[in-house]
Amino acid sequence: MRLENKVAIVTGSASGMGLEEAKAFAREGAKVVIADLNAEAGKQVAEEIKAEGGEATFINVNMTDSASINALVEETVKTYGKLDVVVNNAGIFDKYANILDTDEAQWDLIVGVNLKGIYLMAKAALPVMIEQGGGIFVNIASVAGIVAAKGGAAYTASKHGVIGLTKHMVSEFAKQGIRTNAIAPGTIVTPLIKDVVQNIPTDPVPMKRFGQPSEVSELAVFLASDEAQFMNGAIIPIDGGFTLQ
Ligand SMILES: NC(=O)c1ccc[n+]([C@@H]2O[C@H](COP(=O)([O-])OP(=O)(O)OC[C@H]3O[C@@H](n4cnc5c(N)ncnc54)[C@H](O)[C@@H]3O)[C@@H](O)[C@H]2O)c1
Repeated sequence: MRLENKVAIVTGSASGMGLEEAKAFAREGAKVVIADLNAEAGKQVAEEIKAEGGEATFINVNMTDSASINALVEETVKTYGKLDVVVNNAGIFDKYANILDTDEAQWDLIVGVNLKGIYLMAKAALPVMIEQGGGIFVNIASVAGIVAAKGGAAYTASKHGVIGLTKHMVSEFAKQGIRTNAIAPGTIVTPLIKDVVQNIPTDPVPMKRFGQPSEVSELAVFLASDEAQFMNGAIIPIDGGFTLQ
C-alpha cells in the first residue's frame, strides 16, 4: 500500500472529488480525517471507509474560520499522533459570474474558502509538519487557475491564487522537508457543477468528455506517496487536454 501509516486530512471530503480522494487514500493505507462543513455527509463517508476496512474519522471544519482550522489540526494530531498529508480540496464555485455580477459578499466567500482557507490550513499544519521533519500538501486548484474560461471572477482569481500560493509554499518551505504540488482539474462531474453541467459543452475538450472524481483521486494518491518524493511545485492539469489549446 502506497500511503501506509500516513495520516492525511482531506478537506471538503464529504462530497465529490474529496470523497473519492479520502476513499482512495484509505484504500492505500492512510488514516484519513474527513474534514468538511457538512457533518451529516462527512460522518457517513467516514463510516463507509470503516465499513470497507479503512481508518477514518470525521472532524467538522469551516475553511473560512481560523479557529476551526486550528482545532482540526490539533484534533488530528491528538487522534492519530501526527500529520503527514493535507489535501486542500474544499472549494465552492461562482457559476461563471463576472465582476459585474459578483457582489462583495460572494467574492469574500469564494476567495475565503478557495484561497484564504489554504493559507489558514498551511499556517496551522506547517509547524506540526516542520517539527516532524516533513509533510505534504496537495492543493486542488483548477484549470480556472491557468486560463480564464472556466470560472467567474472570484473563482478564477481564487484558483490563480492557489497556484501562486503553491509556488510560494515550495520556495519557502521545501528546505524544511515540505512538498507542495497542485492539481488543476478540468470539468469533473461532481455535485459542485450539477446546476451548470448541462450548459457546458464538451467540445473544447480534446477528449470530448468530462472527467470523473476517481480520475483525479489517483493523482492525489501519487502526489502524496513516496513515489513522488522529488516532485515539488508541479501544477498538473488533469483535463482531457483542455489547457493545451
Ligand atoms: N468539479 C469540477 O469540475 C472542478 C474542476 C476543477 C476544480 N474543482 C475543485 O475541486 C474541489 C472539489 O470540488 P468538487 O467538485 O468535488 O465539489 P463538491 O461540491 O462536490 O464538494 C466540495 C466539498 O467542500 C465542502 N465545503 C464547501 N465549503 C466549505 C467550507 N467553508 N469548509 C469546509 N468544507 C466546505 C462541501 O461541503 C463539499 O463537501 C474544489 O476546490 C473545486 O473548486 C472542481
